[in-house]
Amino acid sequence: MSNNIMKRVSLGGLEVSRIGLGAMSMSGYYNIGAGSEAESIRTIHRALELGVTHIDTAEIYGPFSNEELVGKAIKGRRDQVVVATKFGLVSHAGGGPGVIDSSAANVRMAVEGSLKRLGTDYIDLYYQHRVDPNTPIEETIGVLADLVAEGKIRYIGLSEAGTGTIRRAHGVHPVAALQTEYSLWSRDPEAELLPLLRELGIGFVPYSPLGHGFLTGEITSPDQLSDDDWRKTNPRFTGDNFKYNLRIVEEVKAVASQLNATPAQIALAWLLAQGDDIAPIPGTKRVARVEENTAADSIQLSTVQLERLNNLTSAAGERHDEMNMSVIDR
Ligand SMILES: NC(=O)c1ccc[n+]([C@@H]2O[C@H](COP(=O)([O-])OP(=O)(O)OC[C@H]3O[C@@H](n4cnc5c(N)ncnc54)[C@H](OP(=O)(O)O)[C@@H]3O)[C@@H](O)[C@H]2O)c1
Repeated sequence: MSNNIMKRVSLGGLEVSRIGLGAMSMSGYYNIGAGSEAESIRTIHRALELGVTHIDTAEIYGPFSNEELVGKAIKGRRDQVVVATKFGLVSHAGGGPGVIDSSAANVRMAVEGSLKRLGTDYIDLYYQHRVDPNTPIEETIGVLADLVAEGKIRYIGLSEAGTGTIRRAHGVHPVAALQTEYSLWSRDPEAELLPLLRELGIGFVPYSPLGHGFLTGEITSPDQLSDDDWRKTNPRFTGDNFKYNLRIVEEVKAVASQLNATPAQIALAWLLAQGDDIAPIPGTKRVARVEENTAADSIQLSTVQLERLNNLTSAAGERHDEMNMSVIDR
Protein backbone atom coordinates (compact mmCIF):
# COMPACT_ATOMS: atom_id res chain seq x y z
CA MET A 1 0.00 0.00 0.00
CA SER A 2 1.30 3.44 -0.84
CA ASN A 3 0.90 6.34 1.55
CA ASN A 4 3.17 8.78 -0.31
CA ILE A 5 3.37 11.12 2.65
CA MET A 6 7.07 11.74 2.42
CA LYS A 7 7.94 15.40 1.99
CA ARG A 8 9.52 16.35 -1.32
CA VAL A 9 12.42 18.62 -2.20
CA SER A 10 13.60 20.10 -5.47
CA LEU A 11 17.12 19.31 -6.64
CA GLY A 12 17.64 22.09 -9.15
CA GLY A 13 14.11 21.43 -10.51
CA LEU A 14 14.07 17.65 -10.08
CA GLU A 15 11.53 16.66 -7.43
CA VAL A 16 12.58 13.84 -5.07
CA SER A 17 11.42 12.47 -1.72
CA ARG A 18 13.56 14.22 0.86
CA ILE A 19 14.80 10.85 2.14
CA GLY A 20 16.06 8.57 -0.61
CA LEU A 21 17.67 5.15 -0.66
CA GLY A 22 21.29 4.39 -1.47
CA ALA A 23 21.67 0.97 -3.05
CA MET A 24 25.46 0.60 -2.79
CA SER A 25 25.51 -1.67 0.29
CA MET A 26 23.28 -4.16 -1.57
CA SER A 27 26.40 -5.09 -3.59
CA GLY A 28 29.03 -5.51 -0.86
CA TYR A 29 31.32 -2.84 0.68
CA TYR A 30 29.86 -3.12 4.18
CA ASN A 31 29.68 -6.70 5.30
CA ILE A 32 28.08 -6.95 8.71
CA GLY A 33 25.25 -9.45 8.39
CA ALA A 34 24.47 -11.36 5.25
CA GLY A 35 22.10 -9.74 2.84
CA SER A 36 20.45 -11.33 -0.13
CA GLU A 37 19.26 -10.17 -3.51
CA ALA A 38 15.68 -11.02 -2.54
CA GLU A 39 15.87 -8.89 0.64
CA SER A 40 17.53 -6.05 -1.29
CA ILE A 41 14.72 -6.03 -3.83
CA ARG A 42 12.12 -6.15 -1.04
CA THR A 43 13.93 -3.19 0.55
CA ILE A 44 13.61 -1.13 -2.64
CA HIS A 45 9.94 -2.08 -3.00
CA ARG A 46 9.23 -1.19 0.65
CA ALA A 47 10.99 2.14 0.17
CA LEU A 48 8.75 2.96 -2.79
CA GLU A 49 5.66 2.00 -0.76
CA LEU A 50 6.77 4.38 1.98
CA GLY A 51 6.94 7.28 -0.45
CA VAL A 52 10.66 7.17 -1.26
CA THR A 53 11.12 8.10 -4.91
CA HIS A 54 14.87 8.63 -5.07
CA ILE A 55 17.08 5.55 -5.61
CA ASP A 56 20.84 6.03 -5.91
CA THR A 57 23.25 3.65 -7.63
CA ALA A 58 26.42 3.83 -9.78
CA GLU A 59 28.13 2.01 -12.62
CA ILE A 60 31.10 1.23 -10.34
CA TYR A 61 28.98 -0.41 -7.59
CA GLY A 62 29.60 -4.11 -8.04
CA PRO A 63 30.91 -3.06 -10.62
CA PHE A 64 27.77 -3.14 -12.74
CA SER A 65 25.76 -5.59 -10.61
CA ASN A 66 24.20 -2.87 -8.46
CA GLU A 67 22.60 -1.18 -11.45
CA GLU A 68 21.32 -4.57 -12.60
CA LEU A 69 19.79 -5.15 -9.17
CA VAL A 70 18.13 -1.74 -9.17
CA GLY A 71 16.91 -2.41 -12.73
CA LYS A 72 15.32 -5.65 -11.60
CA ALA A 73 13.66 -4.00 -8.61
CA ILE A 74 12.14 -1.10 -10.54
CA LYS A 75 10.85 -3.19 -13.43
CA GLY A 76 7.19 -2.29 -13.89
CA ARG A 77 7.56 0.65 -11.45
CA ARG A 78 9.74 2.98 -13.51
CA ASP A 79 7.31 5.89 -13.28
CA GLN A 80 7.45 5.86 -9.45
CA VAL A 81 11.21 6.25 -9.30
CA VAL A 82 13.77 8.98 -9.75
CA VAL A 83 16.76 6.89 -10.84
CA ALA A 84 20.14 8.39 -10.05
CA THR A 85 23.34 6.76 -11.26
CA LYS A 86 26.97 7.76 -11.83
CA PHE A 87 29.72 7.37 -14.42
CA GLY A 88 33.40 8.20 -14.51
CA LEU A 89 35.02 5.53 -12.32
CA VAL A 90 35.11 2.91 -15.07
CA SER A 91 37.21 3.54 -18.16
CA HIS A 92 35.70 1.71 -21.11
CA ALA A 93 38.73 2.37 -23.30
CA GLY A 94 40.61 -0.46 -21.59
CA GLY A 95 41.42 0.90 -18.11
CA GLY A 96 38.37 -0.76 -16.58
CA PRO A 97 36.87 -0.29 -13.08
CA GLY A 98 38.69 2.09 -10.77
CA VAL A 99 40.13 4.25 -13.56
CA ILE A 100 38.84 7.83 -13.61
CA ASP A 101 37.60 8.81 -17.07
CA SER A 102 35.05 11.51 -17.88
CA SER A 103 36.08 12.02 -21.50
CA ALA A 104 33.17 12.56 -23.85
CA ALA A 105 33.80 9.20 -25.54
CA ASN A 106 33.77 7.37 -22.21
CA VAL A 107 30.57 9.07 -21.03
CA ARG A 108 28.88 8.02 -24.29
CA MET A 109 29.86 4.38 -23.68
CA ALA A 110 28.99 4.47 -19.99
CA VAL A 111 25.48 5.80 -20.44
CA GLU A 112 24.50 3.05 -22.86
CA GLY A 113 25.60 0.38 -20.38
CA SER A 114 23.78 2.01 -17.47
CA LEU A 115 20.56 2.39 -19.45
CA LYS A 116 20.69 -1.28 -20.40
CA ARG A 117 21.41 -2.56 -16.89
CA LEU A 118 18.75 -0.32 -15.37
CA GLY A 119 16.24 -1.50 -17.97
CA THR A 120 15.20 2.03 -18.86
CA ASP A 121 15.50 4.46 -21.74
CA TYR A 122 16.25 7.47 -19.53
CA ILE A 123 18.21 8.24 -16.36
CA ASP A 124 16.68 10.95 -14.17
CA LEU A 125 19.90 12.17 -12.56
CA TYR A 126 23.28 11.32 -14.09
CA TYR A 127 26.29 12.19 -11.97
CA GLN A 128 29.96 12.44 -12.69
CA HIS A 129 31.25 10.25 -9.80
CA ARG A 130 34.64 11.93 -9.36
CA VAL A 131 36.13 14.93 -11.14
CA ASP A 132 38.56 13.81 -13.86
CA PRO A 133 41.81 15.84 -13.68
CA ASN A 134 42.60 14.84 -17.28
CA THR A 135 39.35 16.02 -18.87
CA PRO A 136 38.17 19.63 -18.71
CA ILE A 137 34.81 19.73 -16.93
CA GLU A 138 33.46 21.72 -19.91
CA GLU A 139 34.00 18.67 -22.15
CA THR A 140 32.16 16.37 -19.73
CA ILE A 141 29.23 18.74 -19.19
CA GLY A 142 29.10 19.35 -22.95
CA VAL A 143 28.45 15.68 -23.68
CA LEU A 144 26.00 15.46 -20.77
CA ALA A 145 24.09 18.43 -22.21
CA ASP A 146 23.89 16.52 -25.50
CA LEU A 147 22.50 13.50 -23.62
CA VAL A 148 19.86 15.75 -22.03
CA ALA A 149 18.90 17.02 -25.49
CA GLU A 150 18.67 13.43 -26.74
CA GLY A 151 16.39 12.46 -23.82
CA LYS A 152 18.80 9.85 -22.41
CA ILE A 153 19.28 11.72 -19.17
CA ARG A 154 17.05 14.33 -17.51
CA TYR A 155 19.32 16.13 -15.05
CA ILE A 156 23.06 16.47 -14.48
CA GLY A 157 24.85 15.90 -11.17
CA LEU A 158 28.38 16.14 -9.80
CA SER A 159 29.89 14.19 -6.91
CA GLU A 160 32.70 15.40 -4.64
CA ALA A 161 33.34 18.38 -6.93
CA GLY A 162 34.95 21.52 -5.51
CA THR A 163 33.56 25.04 -5.82
CA GLY A 164 35.66 26.00 -8.87
CA THR A 165 34.54 22.93 -10.83
CA ILE A 166 30.91 23.47 -9.86
CA ARG A 167 30.94 27.05 -11.13
CA ARG A 168 32.57 26.06 -14.42
CA ALA A 169 30.19 23.14 -14.93
CA HIS A 170 27.10 25.21 -14.15
CA GLY A 171 28.25 27.79 -16.69
CA VAL A 172 27.98 25.19 -19.47
CA HIS A 173 24.64 23.62 -18.47
CA PRO A 174 22.60 23.82 -15.23
CA VAL A 175 23.75 21.27 -12.64
CA ALA A 176 20.82 19.91 -10.61
CA ALA A 177 22.63 18.32 -7.67
CA LEU A 178 25.92 17.88 -5.90
CA GLN A 179 26.40 14.59 -4.08
CA THR A 180 29.08 14.71 -1.39
CA GLU A 181 29.60 13.18 2.03
CA TYR A 182 27.74 15.14 4.70
CA SER A 183 26.61 14.01 8.12
CA LEU A 184 26.89 14.75 11.82
CA TRP A 185 30.54 13.72 11.71
CA SER A 186 31.44 15.16 8.25
CA ARG A 187 30.51 18.81 8.23
CA ASP A 188 32.99 20.20 5.66
CA PRO A 189 30.33 21.13 3.04
CA GLU A 190 28.96 23.83 5.34
CA ALA A 191 31.86 26.25 4.87
CA GLU A 192 31.91 26.85 1.10
CA LEU A 193 29.91 24.24 -0.77
CA LEU A 194 26.43 24.79 0.66
CA PRO A 195 26.55 28.59 0.27
CA LEU A 196 27.64 28.20 -3.38
CA LEU A 197 24.95 25.61 -4.13
CA ARG A 198 22.33 27.95 -2.69
CA GLU A 199 23.66 30.85 -4.72
CA LEU A 200 23.39 28.77 -7.91
CA GLY A 201 20.12 26.95 -7.10
CA ILE A 202 21.75 23.50 -7.04
CA GLY A 203 20.36 20.83 -4.69
CA PHE A 204 22.50 18.83 -2.28
CA VAL A 205 22.48 15.05 -1.81
CA PRO A 206 24.44 13.98 1.29
CA TYR A 207 25.98 10.53 0.87
CA SER A 208 26.91 8.30 3.80
CA PRO A 209 24.46 10.28 5.97
CA LEU A 210 24.75 7.63 8.70
CA GLY A 211 28.54 7.82 8.71
CA HIS A 212 28.77 4.45 6.88
CA GLY A 213 26.65 3.02 9.70
CA PHE A 214 28.81 4.31 12.58
CA LEU A 215 26.33 6.95 13.71
CA THR A 216 23.58 4.34 14.16
CA GLY A 217 25.34 2.90 17.21
CA GLU A 218 25.29 -0.63 15.72
CA ILE A 219 29.06 -0.83 15.40
CA THR A 220 30.77 -0.87 18.78
CA SER A 221 34.07 -2.59 17.95
CA PRO A 222 36.33 -2.75 14.87
CA ASP A 223 36.26 -6.53 15.39
CA GLN A 224 32.73 -6.53 13.93
CA LEU A 225 34.21 -5.61 10.55
CA SER A 226 35.44 -8.43 8.33
CA ASP A 227 38.70 -8.00 6.42
CA ASP A 228 36.88 -7.29 3.17
CA ASP A 229 34.65 -4.63 4.77
CA TRP A 230 35.48 -1.25 3.16
CA ARG A 231 35.39 0.43 6.58
CA LYS A 232 38.37 -1.61 7.75
CA THR A 233 40.64 0.88 5.93
CA ASN A 234 38.69 4.01 6.81
CA PRO A 235 40.69 6.05 9.36
CA ARG A 236 37.62 6.75 11.49
CA PHE A 237 37.01 3.04 12.02
CA THR A 238 40.52 2.11 13.08
CA GLY A 239 42.52 1.99 16.32
CA ASP A 240 42.23 4.85 18.77
CA ASN A 241 40.10 6.88 16.37
CA PHE A 242 37.37 4.26 16.57
CA LYS A 243 37.33 4.39 20.37
CA TYR A 244 37.36 8.18 20.41
CA ASN A 245 34.55 8.40 17.86
CA LEU A 246 32.27 6.25 20.01
CA ARG A 247 31.77 9.40 22.11
CA ILE A 248 29.94 10.96 19.18
CA VAL A 249 27.53 8.05 19.05
CA GLU A 250 26.86 8.36 22.78
CA GLU A 251 25.86 12.00 22.29
CA VAL A 252 23.56 11.11 19.38
CA LYS A 253 22.01 8.35 21.47
CA ALA A 254 21.28 10.81 24.26
CA VAL A 255 19.24 13.02 21.90
CA ALA A 256 17.56 9.94 20.41
CA SER A 257 16.35 8.79 23.81
CA GLN A 258 14.70 12.17 24.44
CA LEU A 259 12.58 11.71 21.31
CA ASN A 260 12.04 7.97 21.57
CA ALA A 261 13.85 7.71 18.26
CA THR A 262 16.87 5.75 17.06
CA PRO A 263 20.33 7.29 16.51
CA ALA A 264 19.97 6.67 12.75
CA GLN A 265 16.76 8.70 12.74
CA ILE A 266 18.42 11.55 14.64
CA ALA A 267 21.34 11.61 12.18
CA LEU A 268 18.85 11.93 9.30
CA ALA A 269 16.54 14.42 11.05
CA TRP A 270 19.54 16.66 11.72
CA LEU A 271 20.44 16.64 8.00
CA LEU A 272 16.85 17.42 7.00
CA ALA A 273 16.88 20.37 9.38
CA GLN A 274 19.82 21.89 7.44
CA GLY A 275 17.60 23.03 4.57
CA ASP A 276 14.81 22.21 2.15
CA ASP A 277 17.31 21.69 -0.66
CA ILE A 278 18.88 18.66 1.05
CA ALA A 279 17.99 15.07 0.16
CA PRO A 280 20.06 12.41 1.98
CA ILE A 281 20.32 8.87 0.62
CA PRO A 282 20.83 6.50 3.58
CA GLY A 283 21.95 3.07 2.43
CA THR A 284 20.54 -0.22 3.59
CA LYS A 285 19.76 -3.65 2.22
CA ARG A 286 17.17 -4.48 4.89
CA VAL A 287 13.44 -3.83 5.00
CA ALA A 288 13.31 -3.07 8.74
CA ARG A 289 16.01 -0.43 8.38
CA VAL A 290 14.44 1.29 5.40
CA GLU A 291 11.28 1.58 7.50
CA GLU A 292 13.28 3.00 10.40
CA ASN A 293 15.22 5.44 8.23
CA THR A 294 12.29 6.80 6.24
CA ALA A 295 10.38 7.43 9.49
CA ALA A 296 12.94 10.15 10.23
CA ASP A 297 10.87 12.34 7.89
CA SER A 298 8.47 13.08 10.73
CA ILE A 299 11.00 13.77 13.49
CA GLN A 300 11.24 17.36 14.70
CA LEU A 301 14.34 18.36 16.58
CA SER A 302 14.01 21.24 19.04
CA THR A 303 16.33 24.23 18.90
CA VAL A 304 18.14 22.92 21.95
CA GLN A 305 18.56 19.46 20.42
CA LEU A 306 19.81 20.95 17.15
CA GLU A 307 22.27 23.07 19.06
CA ARG A 308 23.51 20.05 20.96
CA LEU A 309 23.99 18.09 17.72
CA ASN A 310 25.70 21.07 16.07
CA ASN A 311 28.24 21.01 18.87
CA LEU A 312 29.07 17.31 18.86
CA THR A 313 32.62 16.23 19.48
CA SER A 314 34.50 16.38 16.13
CA ALA A 315 35.45 13.10 14.52
CA ALA A 316 38.97 11.73 14.85
CA GLY A 317 40.46 10.68 11.51
CA GLU A 318 39.94 11.76 7.91
CA ARG A 319 36.68 10.70 6.27
CA HIS A 320 38.50 8.57 3.67
CA ASP A 321 41.87 6.89 3.44
CA GLU A 322 44.72 8.66 1.61
CA MET A 323 44.01 7.11 -1.77
CA ASN A 324 40.32 8.03 -1.68
CA MET A 325 41.08 11.54 -0.39
CA SER A 326 43.54 12.08 -3.23
CA VAL A 327 40.82 11.81 -5.89
CA ILE A 328 38.54 14.35 -4.22
CA ASP A 329 38.41 17.67 -6.06
CA ARG A 330 39.16 20.65 -3.79
N1 LIG B 1 29.04 9.71 -4.43
C1 LIG B 1 29.85 8.94 -3.75
O1 LIG B 1 31.07 8.97 -3.93
C2 LIG B 1 29.28 7.99 -2.74
C3 LIG B 1 30.11 7.39 -1.78
C4 LIG B 1 29.53 6.52 -0.85
C5 LIG B 1 28.17 6.29 -0.88
N2 LIG B 1 27.39 6.89 -1.84
C6 LIG B 1 25.93 6.68 -1.89
O2 LIG B 1 25.36 7.00 -0.64
C7 LIG B 1 24.57 5.92 -0.15
C8 LIG B 1 24.61 5.88 1.36
O3 LIG B 1 25.94 5.90 1.85
P1 LIG B 1 26.63 4.67 2.58
O4 LIG B 1 25.90 3.41 2.25
O5 LIG B 1 28.06 4.79 2.29
O6 LIG B 1 26.51 4.98 4.12
P2 LIG B 1 25.33 5.26 5.16
O7 LIG B 1 24.05 5.44 4.49
O8 LIG B 1 25.86 6.32 6.03
O9 LIG B 1 25.34 3.91 6.00
C9 LIG B 1 25.07 2.67 5.46
C10 LIG B 1 25.42 1.59 6.47
O10 LIG B 1 24.61 1.73 7.62
C11 LIG B 1 23.85 0.56 7.86
N3 LIG B 1 22.50 1.02 8.27
C12 LIG B 1 21.59 1.66 7.49
N4 LIG B 1 20.49 1.98 8.20
C13 LIG B 1 20.72 1.54 9.47
C14 LIG B 1 19.96 1.57 10.65
N5 LIG B 1 18.78 2.14 10.70
N6 LIG B 1 20.51 1.00 11.77
C15 LIG B 1 21.73 0.43 11.74
N7 LIG B 1 22.50 0.36 10.63
C16 LIG B 1 22.00 0.92 9.51
C17 LIG B 1 23.86 -0.21 6.56
O11 LIG B 1 23.82 -1.60 6.78
P3 LIG B 1 22.87 -2.59 5.93
O12 LIG B 1 23.06 -2.25 4.49
O13 LIG B 1 23.39 -3.94 6.31
O14 LIG B 1 21.50 -2.34 6.43
C18 LIG B 1 25.20 0.19 5.95
O15 LIG B 1 26.23 -0.63 6.47
C19 LIG B 1 25.18 4.69 -0.84
O16 LIG B 1 24.28 3.62 -0.89
C20 LIG B 1 25.52 5.25 -2.20
O17 LIG B 1 24.37 5.22 -3.02
C21 LIG B 1 27.94 7.74 -2.74
